[in-house]
Amino acid sequence: MTPTAKQATATMKQQSDLGVLGLAVMGRNLALNVESHDFQVSVYNRTYSTTDEFIAANDGKRLVPTRTLDELVQSLASPRKILLMVKAGAAVDAVIEQLIPLLERGDIVIDGGNSHYTDTERRDAYLTSKGLRFIGAGISGGEEGARKGPSIMPGGPTSTWEVMQPIFESIAAKAEGEPCVSHIGPGGAGHYVKMIHNGIEYGDMQLICEAYNLFKAAGFTSDEMAATFKRWNEGDLQSYLIQITGIALEQKDPQTGAPMVEIILDKAGQKGTGRWTLINAAENAVVISTINAAVEARVLSALKEQRVAASRELQGPKANITVAKPELVAKVHDALYASKIVSYAQGMALLMTMSEKKDWQLDLGQIAAIWRGGCIIRARFLNRITDAYRSNPALANLMLDPFFKGVLNKAQQNWREVVAMAVSSGIAVPAFSASLGYYDSYRAERLPANLLQAQRDFFGAHTYERVDKPPGERFHTQWPEVIG
Ligand code: 6PG
Repeated sequence: MTPTAKQATATMKQQSDLGVLGLAVMGRNLALNVESHDFQVSVYNRTYSTTDEFIAANDGKRLVPTRTLDELVQSLASPRKILLMVKAGAAVDAVIEQLIPLLERGDIVIDGGNSHYTDTERRDAYLTSKGLRFIGAGISGGEEGARKGPSIMPGGPTSTWEVMQPIFESIAAKAEGEPCVSHIGPGGAGHYVKMIHNGIEYGDMQLICEAYNLFKAAGFTSDEMAATFKRWNEGDLQSYLIQITGIALEQKDPQTGAPMVEIILDKAGQKGTGRWTLINAAENAVVISTINAAVEARVLSALKEQRVAASRELQGPKANITVAKPELVAKVHDALYASKIVSYAQGMALLMTMSEKKDWQLDLGQIAAIWRGGCIIRARFLNRITDAYRSNPALANLMLDPFFKGVLNKAQQNWREVVAMAVSSGIAVPAFSASLGYYDSYRAERLPANLLQAQRDFFGAHTYERVDKPPGERFHTQWPEVIG
């Protein structure tokens, strides 16, 4: 350990409470957050100059710079707790390999990155086999959340969670006085829940973008849109993403004076957590059509050059939104709110399916509760989701909860009018319409799957059940032969 003279003050303990490995934006801010809660933090970064700069910029804080992994490990009180804030993927495995020979039985490694939950399961088993303890913790909130209070989704054994609980609870965001962290479940459960959080984040963002696109087509100025989102942020759509949208829309580009948002190229990036959510949903036969549409919308947006070329080749109607602005705002509000409910209903259904499959015993009400603060999807209506699962933990679908059912029944007319308006104006609203399609399919007593079963039986003798016979009894028809 090489504490500088300034750090070696009387307030410094012999050994630190936590080690933070990786001083990129999230690691740096988490280290400062932990330190500000009366903990001493040792920090390590592969490039020592980063550590040096970090320490210099935070003079007088209980931060201990370390130059090597060995120094980091030696600087920590037992059982050692090391929070890895390195890029998800191979870097996590590499650093774990380097740490193993330095650690002692019972020491705890926490992966705070966006790791895939199956990697977390593998690492958990591996570290356990070495006598070490592992926590895969999803951490949401970006730079500001990391510094001031993120939402934390830790997975791993209860006994390890209990050791980490004091640190996690003190650094997490607080919502109505409660820390936005709780033990999610064993193994990869924490990172799994973070992945679903991110999928839902994709859905929320795309829905907001579709509302913006409709307003734009209806001739709203950026300032009018900003005012609309700001007003919405006072009501039942109140959420961080609505809030930042309102702020972003009124921002002007310093170079041109034009609305900043209009200067930004319409080509979305993505790091992969939304896509992981889709793959997992497909593997488990759970419909998450809103998130699906959101991921695909990003993919299509990225084909900018193709879209520009196609815009000259493929025809569509002229946008023709004639509804008065206040009325349009009210209708789009309902479309957004209803679609958002559907998106969360789908995300929650996927959580429930995986919880049963993996025996994670996820507490969906509690998960919604820890998303109320700190994280990117923080929103007022999460309280309602918590209430829904607290009053009925076996709720088959969030849309059937009395509160949400009421909202959907009230919003559905405006919702379909918005989708119809968009379709007849040639404006793509993939997430609004996918959500509505799910709503209409889920509430349909009879779907056209009878014809589909006939087709399957026709070409493959796959058999079908009959409406007038007990479930499970299979039938086959000798369909006419097709010539040619
Ligand atoms: C969070 C965010 C965070 C990150 C996303 C961005 O919860 O703090 O989700 O994890 O910003 O991974 O993801 P994309 O780059 O895929 O949009």
